Amino acid sequence: MSIGFPSELVNPDGSGSERAAEAALRPKALTEFVGQEKVRSQLGLLIEASLNRGRAPDHVLLSGPPGLGKTTLAMIVANEVNSSLRLTSGPTLQRPGDLAAVLSSLQENDVLFIDEIHRLARTAEEMLYLAMEDFRVDVMVGKGPGATSIPLPLPRFTVVGATTRAGLLPAPLRDRFGFTAHLDYYTEKELAQIVARSAVKLDADLRPDAGREIAGRSRGTPRIANRLLRRVQDWAEINNEGVLDLGSAQAALDLFEVDRLGLDRLDRAVLEATCRRFGGGPVGLNTLAMTVGEEPETVETVAEPYLVREGFLVRTPRGRMATPLAWSHLGLAPPAQDDTLFS
Ligand SMILES: Nc1ncnc2c1ncn2[C@@H]1O[C@H](COP(=O)(O)OP(=O)(O)O)[C@@H](O)[C@H]1O
Ligand SMILES: [Mg+2]
Repeated sequence: MSIGFPSELVNPDGSGSERAAEAALRPKALTEFVGQEKVRSQLGLLIEASLNRGRAPDHVLLSGPPGLGKTTLAMIVANEVNSSLRLTSGPTLQRPGDLAAVLSSLQENDVLFIDEIHRLARTAEEMLYLAMEDFRVDVMVGKGPGATSIPLPLPRFTVVGATTRAGLLPAPLRDRFGFTAHLDYYTEKELAQIVARSAVKLDADLRPDAGREIAGRSRGTPRIANRLLRRVQDWAEINNEGVLDLGSAQAALDLFEVDRLGLDRLDRAVLEATCRRFGGGPVGLNTLAMTVGEEPETVETVAEPYLVREGFLVRTPRGRMATPLAWSHLGLAPPAQDDTLFS
């Protein structure tokens, strides 16, 4: 098992036990959702207005890196407006017929969650515009010149779309969302709160300094914080009579190769490649991705946003460049900026 390994982040549903553990820790109400103040109060208003009017809320688009709470918020919205949640995702809706089947089975006020909505097929996208705007689908009947489209009215429902790449959504689709929110990385304080709350649910004897250690190494991401907590709990059960203290946290996190700044293997691979192979850059995204053996999309949506935010990497028009912080974190000396300084 690896912690925060990219494929787990991109595909959080990797293993059944991980999924079950994650589901058990999901906040069910908006008041339990930690951080993201602004998004939370905006969604709170949306929910309250919808309850007042007795009508499904406006369509909601949630964007942000993996593991920050998009799916959780979709579930909370459905829960708070007392609606049923239907789950689907862009990659599974490749033909318009797939989407038509989902849409035509919706009930009044249902919440339809479409994960990875940026990966919806073009043809399905067009059907979705119409459904979101006019609550209608046009069903094609027959083939060839005799084919006709029959409009099928839909009940009022709410789409909650989630995406790691809001920039990839075509403008007409983005415009159909009455509410758009971007989730950002969490502070250490917020993560410590999330970890403390999860520890109670997991029946873990977590000491505050261990909670802070886990929070500090979670790269701003609740999903990682919860995962690290479970690994520290494993470690403490075997080695420390179940007490999750600072020593157990440090030993467990070192064992799982989460470094002291929370960078995981992909993060480090990106920095190593940029510094060692490309002299600090600039290096293009595709070249970089190929060097670390990952998809460009993974490097761009999983590793980069955090590395840029924490000041390890900068994006320039000519490519990605390592900052002095990246060099020193890897224990390397940055190349001299200006040779004349030393002559
Ligand atoms: N604000 C939050 N407060 C508490 N737990 C959170 C929060 N955001 C995410 N989590 C936890 O992190 C995990 C991943 O969240 P999820 O909603 O699946 O992320 P995403 O859909 O953005 O990838 C969930 O198990 C959830 O319990
Ligand atoms: Mg999700």
